[in-house]
Amino acid sequence: MTPESHRTARPAAVAFHDLAPAPADFGAEVLAGLGAEPKTLPCKFFYDQRGSALFQEICRLPEYYPTRTEMALMGACAADIGACAGPECVVVEYGIGSVDKARLLLRALDRPRAYVAVDISREHLLAAAETLADEFPEVAVHAVCADFTRPFGLPPEVDGARRLAFFPGSTLGNFSPAEARDFLAAIADLVGDGGGLLIGIDLKKDTAVLDAAYDDARGVTAAFNLNLLSRINRELGGTFALDAFRHEAGYNPAEGRVEMHLVSLADQTAEVHGRTFAFAAGETVHTENSYKYTVAEFQDLARGAGFTAEDAWTDPDDLFSIHCLRRVAG
Ligand code: AVI
Repeated sequence: MTPESHRTARPAAVAFHDLAPAPADFGAEVLAGLGAEPKTLPCKFFYDQRGSALFQEICRLPEYYPTRTEMALMGACAADIGACAGPECVVVEYGIGSVDKARLLLRALDRPRAYVAVDISREHLLAAAETLADEFPEVAVHAVCADFTRPFGLPPEVDGARRLAFFPGSTLGNFSPAEARDFLAAIADLVGDGGGLLIGIDLKKDTAVLDAAYDDARGVTAAFNLNLLSRINRELGGTFALDAFRHEAGYNPAEGRVEMHLVSLADQTAEVHGRTFAFAAGETVHTENSYKYTVAEFQDLARGAGFTAEDAWTDPDDLFSIHCLRRVAG
């Protein structure tokens, strides 16, 4: 933990540790991305209040298979996951999207000692941690407010126990392979010798299934993508005409990723923070990559970050995978 961390008792027996993460500089990153050639915007900025609500809606769409497939797979493999993870571990969840997966994991594990949720969003983190503390009174629940993409320390109370990092949701797919390897190496450092990682990874599959998952019939993913421009208008005094851009998403087989873009429908300009950006008709702003892996490709990536593959499970349709990895001693 860093010197500025402090611990506050919470009513639902959650130990809260505020590492006071520096907020991302939305303005600077937007100006840099729109000034680049080709233009980009970082996908981490999708998740304002409306974007987070839209993402929850995406997770329930018939076309968006990852969430329900991962949940079903976790349920089906619960006993194997528990056996692979081993008894009395401390779970460290990187980002807490929904409590459903943490709940499934805590039920699957043999006498988990503690559960540590790490998330940058204070309110969401505390609400989720309190729910779990209520449901699992025998597990010590810690909430660490931190940016998990940067180095952070764990509460001293969990020292000495074997650590199991938990990173569901295939969020690793939103990192480039090089970023993913560095991130996995940081997890390997955090869990230490004997520690493990349980991670959900979306699989390569039929292009039509991927295309539909990121361009649904109801247009929820389109609204999610376009919300980035609304957010820029709202928070940075942007002047984007929202009906002058359209959502585009599709699988790029050469790169092994689904790409999301915002396509300019006309020659136009938009101002952000007093700077003017020109968009040609058909020009795109690249807003997200979602990399897909085969089981073997992901295991190779993890090996390069200091893990060995202990087990991997896939659903009957080969849509999604869950991996149990062990940190290589050394
Ligand atoms: C959060 N992440 C794993 C999602 C994904 O599938 O890459 C974000 C998303 N983008 C469009 N739909 C869902």
